[in-house]
Amino acid sequence: MNVIRFSDLCAQGKASGQRVFIRADLNVPQDDNGAITEDTRIRASVPCIQMALAAGAAVMVTSHLGRPTEGAFTPEDSLAPVAKRLGELLGREVPLLANWVDGVTVAPGQVVLLENCRVNVGEKKNSPELAKKMAALCDIFVNDAFGTAHRAEGTTYGIAEYAKIACAGPLLAAEIDAITKALAQPQRPLVAIVAGSKVSTKLTILKSLSEKVDQLIVGGGIANTFMLAAGLKIGKSLAEPDLVDQAKAVIEAMKARGAAVPIPVDVVTAKTFSADAVATVKAAADVADDDLILDIGPQTAAALATQLKAAGTIVWNGPVGVFEFDAFAHGTETIARAIADSAAFSIAGGGDTLAAIAKYGIENQVGYISTGGGAFLEILEGKTLPAFEILQKRAA
Ligand code: 3PG
Repeated sequence: MNVIRFSDLCAQGKASGQRVFIRADLNVPQDDNGAITEDTRIRASVPCIQMALAAGAAVMVTSHLGRPTEGAFTPEDSLAPVAKRLGELLGREVPLLANWVDGVTVAPGQVVLLENCRVNVGEKKNSPELAKKMAALCDIFVNDAFGTAHRAEGTTYGIAEYAKIACAGPLLAAEIDAITKALAQPQRPLVAIVAGSKVSTKLTILKSLSEKVDQLIVGGGIANTFMLAAGLKIGKSLAEPDLVDQAKAVIEAMKARGAAVPIPVDVVTAKTFSADAVATVKAAADVADDDLILDIGPQTAAALATQLKAAGTIVWNGPVGVFEFDAFAHGTETIARAIADSAAFSIAGGGDTLAAIAKYGIENQVGYISTGGGAFLEILEGKTLPAFEILQKRAA
């Protein structure tokens, strides 16, 4: 992807003494007391800020937090906990500035955090007036917010239109590189795992991937709908019978290319959806009317693991069973460990997938873990994300 990279500007000395505005995604989960419960996105944003400081820039960083009402700031909307954590990670105080749109004072070698950009009126709808004001604050605009790259808002799109220079930060660039490696120039066989509760929420992803991948492994409620499409009974399991034709179309599209959607040969069932439910392994053909399928069976998991170990590239979105319950976690654990052991380049994204990766401790054995939730899914759908689109335009 042809975008200007901030790392190149820094290496060429072009950021020295410049006012650099970094749009990061510091939208992290907090508990009821406002304490940050998971700080991956803050840690992932540090290299860009350090790069700007090391280059001698005057650094402004902003992010959204949650979905506040524009023009109606409340204490819960504040990036104050983020400023504190960022300060700890950077080893320096990070002042938090409110009401910053009309002017920011920051000297080269200093960093300030600009309060929640989504409280500014016009941010969400990308008002040109707001975008122009924000662009005037800086010499270089750096988008490093992959998690928000699917939003065309003031700080993700508009400012990039009007800033003197608009470029990709190291996190955004790493995401572009990993996604390009996995989807545009993959080492084959390319295997995708798409799991989740509903076909309807991931139908466009399934269709888009069915044109690219060699194996499309489906899991969770999505697999149940595919089992129906293959003529199997699924008892009381979660599924969308009205989407069986769509599932059949995906299977046919894959078949036509000599590719496949593996259908489970065995499953793990229960009579109730609960952590202490009795787990029963049975052949996929033997599912009873009152069964709930909560995981793939050991034979299916072993066969998929073999395919994953032989893959050239793996794209992973979604656990294949109810891995939060130990009795139904075997399939997801087998898949996770196979990905970890595979020589394939692997890319994973999505909240549940990241939770599974953490549960099995395979962070260091996955090629790339995306910080994007919705953004990662939209990439899998084959969309060009607005943040990339404008940065490409600005590089032309
Ligand atoms: C996310 O959490 O996926 C990103 O920060 C985007 O947040 P949004 O869905 O509120 O735009």
